[in-house]
Amino acid sequence: MLDQQKFYVTTPIYYVNDKPHIGHAYTTILGDVLARYHRLMRVPTFFLTGTDEHGQKVFEAARHHQIKPQEQCDRTVVRFQELWEKLEITNDDFIRTTEKRHTEVVQKILARLYREDQIYGADYEGWYCVGCERFFLEKDLVEGNCPDCDKTVEKLVEKNYFFRMSAYQDWLVDYIEQNPRFIQPEHRRQETLGFLRSPLNDLCISRPKSRMNWGIELPFDSDYVTYVWFDALVNYISGAGYLRDEESFRQWWPASCHLIGKDILTTHTVYWPTMLKAMGVAMPEMIFAHGWWLTGRDKMSKSRGNVVNPMEMAEKYGVDPFRYFLMAEMSLGQDAGFTEEGFFQRYNADLANDLGNLASRVTRMIEKQLNGQLPENLPVTDSEKNLVAACTGAVEQMRDHLSEMRIERGLGEVLAAVREGNRYFEQNAPWKLAKNEEWQEVSRVLANAAECLRIVSGLLFPVMPGKMTELRTGLGLGEDAEKPNLEKLATWGEGWRSRQVQPVGGLFPRIDIKAELKNLEQQKAEQAEVKKSDGQKSPTQSSKKHEQAAEGVIDIGDFSKVELRVARVLQAESVEGTKKLLLLQTDLGSEQRQVVAGIAESYKPADLLNRNVVLVSNLKPASIRGLESKGMLLAAKKADGSFSLVTVDSDVSPGTQVG
Ligand code: MSP
Repeated sequence: MLDQQKFYVTTPIYYVNDKPHIGHAYTTILGDVLARYHRLMRVPTFFLTGTDEHGQKVFEAARHHQIKPQEQCDRTVVRFQELWEKLEITNDDFIRTTEKRHTEVVQKILARLYREDQIYGADYEGWYCVGCERFFLEKDLVEGNCPDCDKTVEKLVEKNYFFRMSAYQDWLVDYIEQNPRFIQPEHRRQETLGFLRSPLNDLCISRPKSRMNWGIELPFDSDYVTYVWFDALVNYISGAGYLRDEESFRQWWPASCHLIGKDILTTHTVYWPTMLKAMGVAMPEMIFAHGWWLTGRDKMSKSRGNVVNPMEMAEKYGVDPFRYFLMAEMSLGQDAGFTEEGFFQRYNADLANDLGNLASRVTRMIEKQLNGQLPENLPVTDSEKNLVAACTGAVEQMRDHLSEMRIERGLGEVLAAVREGNRYFEQNAPWKLAKNEEWQEVSRVLANAAECLRIVSGLLFPVMPGKMTELRTGLGLGEDAEKPNLEKLATWGEGWRSRQVQPVGGLFPRIDIKAELKNLEQQKAEQAEVKKSDGQKSPTQSSKKHEQAAEGVIDIGDFSKVELRVARVLQAESVEGTKKLLLLQTDLGSEQRQVVAGIAESYKPADLLNRNVVLVSNLKPASIRGLESKGMLLAAKKADGSFSLVTVDSDVSPGTQVG
């Protein structure tokens, strides 16, 4: 991957039926880390992520929330975008499959494949579950019933459209055999070849609107929408400019790396290559399937209540440590277990003890002994041999491991260099040299220790951009602080110049593991208690709850249903014929919201402009005097009946959640 002219990396696009979880965060951080490493190597890079907004799952989620599917998408996409911002994700584009730039491309592809008879209409016969609204193959039924809900299924014949995928089976097997790096890791390549040993069917690419109408309409039959996978996979080319911006497409395609989870292997290694082949588009260079994050050893699932919330982790323990843990803990390609204890242990060992300690000791001592001023030159003696080898070796190793998608091993090498730095510092004990007033020696040791920090902080920058910028700024690296260059990291003393260093203490404060685990246990017990009292209500308990509600007491579950967001007032005007109403246009981050508010007697329209107010953003829309109002402002009602709006500081971005 590394000797490339360009690097184009993608993540799967995520379904917007629910908020993001650790699996989504992991792949996106992985994509970000790869993109940032390539930028470090000055390789032109394009990093694409986005959301998969059509199909049954989103349709059902919308139905569950009693909103339109598009609204379901618009609400949920913000959760992803907010998380990516929080996690310092540097994607170059974000594609939503409901955008015109995507839907038009899908329709053009479909129209062409249909014209060329690569897509044809035929009757489809299968076992249909009315409850789940899905077809199943006979072999998937459980004792003749639906494998998902156990209800009876009925045989149904339905006209549909099919892509001639079977015609490409032999070609695909040959391609995978001749291109051993196409599907990685190797066991996933074998899995795909195994799958291809059975005859490949043609792929049903349509869904009749009479059953589910949330999708891209087929250009040749308006009674149907496109099957969600045939639509979603196309994002990798529509996002790069296919049939839309040929110059961009020529620049970025073929993708260097599609990152996926192991559960979506077949769609990516069988459907997608055959679709591209039929379109006459080049194959991506690599499809890499990573393993799953488990909770300890169990699958994460909502019903077990063990899903890790990435936003919470990042907020509690910091974005960078969370990113580091995910990258260092999972052997790429295998499953990994997530436990808080595992996180704390790695955090303390690698970040607090090894890296944070070295950074703090070295920079503080440079300040104390050298007034923060590094010497003019960097003297290297025999004593530095191991340190130089460990640090420059780590750069080479990182390069090699990256090209083999072994990030965790690359990071292991960097941490080994950090440990070598600590050993060097201990052995050369600059504080003793200072006591003996051996000032040249003091300078030598501190300058070399600072050089070790320059290199390791550069290597860790793609994983922990925030903390490493802090450290590199403290090291006085100027512009290089935020834009490390791998070439410069590979040479000891490259670009050495005298510079001013500031102490960098407390990068990674130690976690008191025992206390933190106790805390967590308590929190979990409290949550379980709330759940229990919610879930196992006997009729008397249930009426007790109502009594509580009558007294105005709600539990956290009730409160969490209310979505409060910061909205910035863009426009405000009085509503004609009323004394009390103002019509506001507000910026809610991802969208503009119109709200009608009864505050005209307390505020003039001009007073409100650019103010950050708080909006109940998931309130059912209402029509007030024929004007649509989507949300409600929070305000205190004073004794005289006037209102005082709840406002938020101006540096808080619109759309930020309150609560
Ligand atoms: N929309 C499809 C992808 C279309 S790509 C053209 C989809 N979306 S998803 O939201 O359900 O899942 C996205 C990714 O999250 C998948 O790669 C899946 O493997 C990954 N993960 C879901 N749970 C996971 C873990 N517990 N651990 C790691 N990744 C997991 O599938």
